[in-house]
Amino acid sequence: MDRHDFDIPVTFRHRVIFTRSAFSHGNKALADVLAEGGGRRALVFLENAVADSWKGLADDIQAYFGKLDLDFRGVRIFAGGEACKADENLVREVWREIDLSHIDRHSYVIAIGGGAFLDAVGFAASTAHRGVRLVRFPTTTLSQDDSGVGVKSAINAFGKKNWIGSFCVPFAVINDFRFLETQDRETSRAGLIEAIKVALVKDGDFFAWIEKNAAALAKGERDPFEECVKRSALLHTRHIALGGDAFETGSSRPLDFGHWAAHKLEALTNYQLSHAEAVSVGLALDTIYSRNIGLLAETDAARVLAVLSALGLKTYHPALDWMDRKGQRRVLAGLDEFREHLGGELTVLLLADIGKGTDVHEFDMEQLEKSIAELHSEWDRGDHFRKSGA
Ligand SMILES: NC(=O)c1ccc[n+]([C@@H]2O[C@H](COP(=O)([O-])OP(=O)(O)OC[C@H]3O[C@@H](n4cnc5c(N)ncnc54)[C@H](O)[C@@H]3O)[C@@H](O)[C@H]2O)c1
Ligand SMILES: [Zn+2]
Repeated sequence: MDRHDFDIPVTFRHRVIFTRSAFSHGNKALADVLAEGGGRRALVFLENAVADSWKGLADDIQAYFGKLDLDFRGVRIFAGGEACKADENLVREVWREIDLSHIDRHSYVIAIGGGAFLDAVGFAASTAHRGVRLVRFPTTTLSQDDSGVGVKSAINAFGKKNWIGSFCVPFAVINDFRFLETQDRETSRAGLIEAIKVALVKDGDFFAWIEKNAAALAKGERDPFEECVKRSALLHTRHIALGGDAFETGSSRPLDFGHWAAHKLEALTNYQLSHAEAVSVGLALDTIYSRNIGLLAETDAARVLAVLSALGLKTYHPALDWMDRKGQRRVLAGLDEFREHLGGELTVLLLADIGKGTDVHEFDMEQLEKSIAELHSEWDRGDHFRKSGA
């Protein structure tokens, strides 16, 4: 036996920038960050829904790059949304374009789109040449306040969310608030759920701020909305950078409150339920469950539900009650999938207090059933939770 162990220290710089109208004349946010890396070429992938809702954007991008000292290879427009994560088609297209444009490991792929588009393009970028530099421009609330600043990318497979993917720290993330203005109101508001989530598990003061500003956030008032997105993005980033487990090698998922049910609900509904909507149902369920097992105070659970209600977010979907042929509740498979994904031991983050998550390793099925029943009946009554078009 002759064994040699080496630790390989690797550090990454995670650059997160907030701006408005990044491609307008005189905005140097992108130019500066690209110059910092010194790469030779750049190629842009733009989600078609974004291009459609912002006429002239592709031309603005072209004009912006025309002024930079870079070999610009153009703008490629592809469809996004959850459908682009359903198979490898977009990933293959992106690989092909990267190859045709001779993007090397020091060149930039710039991805502009919602969380789904960024996940698929990001996965392609992180695997082409074992990883080319990726600059993300998230264009939805959810992708700006959460997924865009993350260090993961993925597509779906085998009926499961994010089964194929990679960990990859983007070269930079540019949260351009101008993009938030072209989303539809539903997508815009629903994406605040990840801000509520991170506030609940990490920062009680931020949750209190959300409570105070709930009416303004529901109306989409620009200043509080952008502040909320920014605070959430920075809480997520700080946790990833400083939390000690950026690539999730441990068995806990300290930011994934409400997500075991959410991922399963998305798959069960064939992604008719968006990630944001599914997370708000999952978060409501795990809040009630936390209360029912005596972990969370009744008054605190009521505060969470009141914020969901004020923002018009979903707290129930019929898929919670779908049964399989054996009479088993189908959403419960989400717990097994969570366990499997994490490598064996079940670890689910619940709520101990406003601003404080805590891991549990088993579930009380009776209390879980009771929690689902309560969500269902409250939703039907429409008392505590406002309906938002389930
Ligand atoms: N990688 C991660 O760490 C991570 C974390 C959380 C969520 N996610 C993933 O993110 C995805 C959800 O992202 P999302 O909420 O942004 O949804 P999405 O990407 O599906 O976008 C929602 C809808 O808005 C459209 N759209 C996007 N930007 C727009 C704009 N500016 N104007 C008009 N329309 C626009 C899209 O075409 C789509 O129809 C899920 O697949 C989820 O799994 C990834
Ligand atoms: Zn999420």
